[in-house]
Amino acid sequence: MKGRRRIAGWKDKILFTPGPLTTSQTVKQAMLRDLGSRDVEFIGLVKDIRNKLLELGQVSPDQYTTVLMQGSGTFGLEAVVSSTVPPDGRLLVIVNGAYGRRLAAIASVLRIDTATLEYAENTTPDLREIADTLKTDGKITNVSVVHCETTTGIVNPIREIGEIAAKYGAKYFVDAMSSFGAVPIDLAECKIDYLVSSANKCIEGVPGFSFILCRLNSLKETAGYARSVSLDLLGQYQGLEKNGQFRFTPPTHALAAFRQALAELEAEGGVGGRAERYRRNYETLVGGMRRMGFTEYLKPEDQGYIITSFLYPDDPNFSFEKFYESLNQKDYVIYPGKVSDADCFRIGNIGRIFEADVKALLAAIAETITEMGVKLKYTLQGSKFPRVRS
Ligand SMILES: Cc1ncc(COP(=O)(O)O)c(C=O)c1O
Repeated sequence: MKGRRRIAGWKDKILFTPGPLTTSQTVKQAMLRDLGSRDVEFIGLVKDIRNKLLELGQVSPDQYTTVLMQGSGTFGLEAVVSSTVPPDGRLLVIVNGAYGRRLAAIASVLRIDTATLEYAENTTPDLREIADTLKTDGKITNVSVVHCETTTGIVNPIREIGEIAAKYGAKYFVDAMSSFGAVPIDLAECKIDYLVSSANKCIEGVPGFSFILCRLNSLKETAGYARSVSLDLLGQYQGLEKNGQFRFTPPTHALAAFRQALAELEAEGGVGGRAERYRRNYETLVGGMRRMGFTEYLKPEDQGYIITSFLYPDDPNFSFEKFYESLNQKDYVIYPGKVSDADCFRIGNIGRIFEADVKALLAAIAETITEMGVKLKYTLQGSKFPRVRS
């Protein structure tokens, strides 16, 4: 378990969650610095991070730029929604989970004219309906969707939706919070104008800021659109371009950790290497859970390798609170479900966790289930590895 071991005297729990995530010791150690926000070293670090993120998005600095934004991922989302929809614009939000609903909620608080297309949480959006909506509703100027809906783990077809948005001349915004860095995304090919992710997801930095990859031509058209000072996307970009500095106090320690996290991503073989580890975590997890008799909420063909929702076992002895607490006492942190119409819990495969950690979690789950007296039915599909979307 390279890179994730415990500091003497501490025993960190392993986080099988959608975030915050387990990080390597070297990433944490990189924070043991006090960098001045106007220091040349810090300005160089910010520049390197911005460039490296463009490489991960497979785009060139002629066409795209990276804007770093203080705060968690939601602050980055709110920056895009509040700064890129024209004052008289209309936003189409495609929803099949809690994070899609959050985008619509952000737009509603900002009093942005919004249309939503809602789908069941175990269903990918209907591309024909999206095209029809854009065709008939001529007022839509912006379209947004979540890539991996962390509510369930479903992966939405961002390339196909991007093609539709481009066909109807709408700006296209993707919340790739839980996928960027571990699922290959070519922004230009997917026709993405804005993509948001954050420091403590698949790049395995610590929490503290989000980042937005922006198509330069689109961003430069947004003068006067911002509905917030601190979350003004164009303002933040202009500040960073002017002198390489943040407009307001930057998360210096989180940025130092992020530079180390990017180096560790590269050492692992970049997005491809990380995808391979997470996919192996996923296959080990789902194979083991199925063998015990657990069932996933999603159909395998819609499921990504980032996070998996499992249905509660059909046994009166099962209580999620007891299950969670018992695993927690064994140092494994899982996550409650977020699905509206089914009782589920979630297990994430992302962060500094390896196949051996997943196997240890599976052993702890088997022990916990026995302690609780829960009986699970072995299913025939148990031994077969599912095919997942990427
Ligand atoms: C897809 C998605 N969008 C948005 C968020 C919100 O990010 P944060 O909690 O960092 O604000 C998350 C967090 O897990 C997410 O998975």
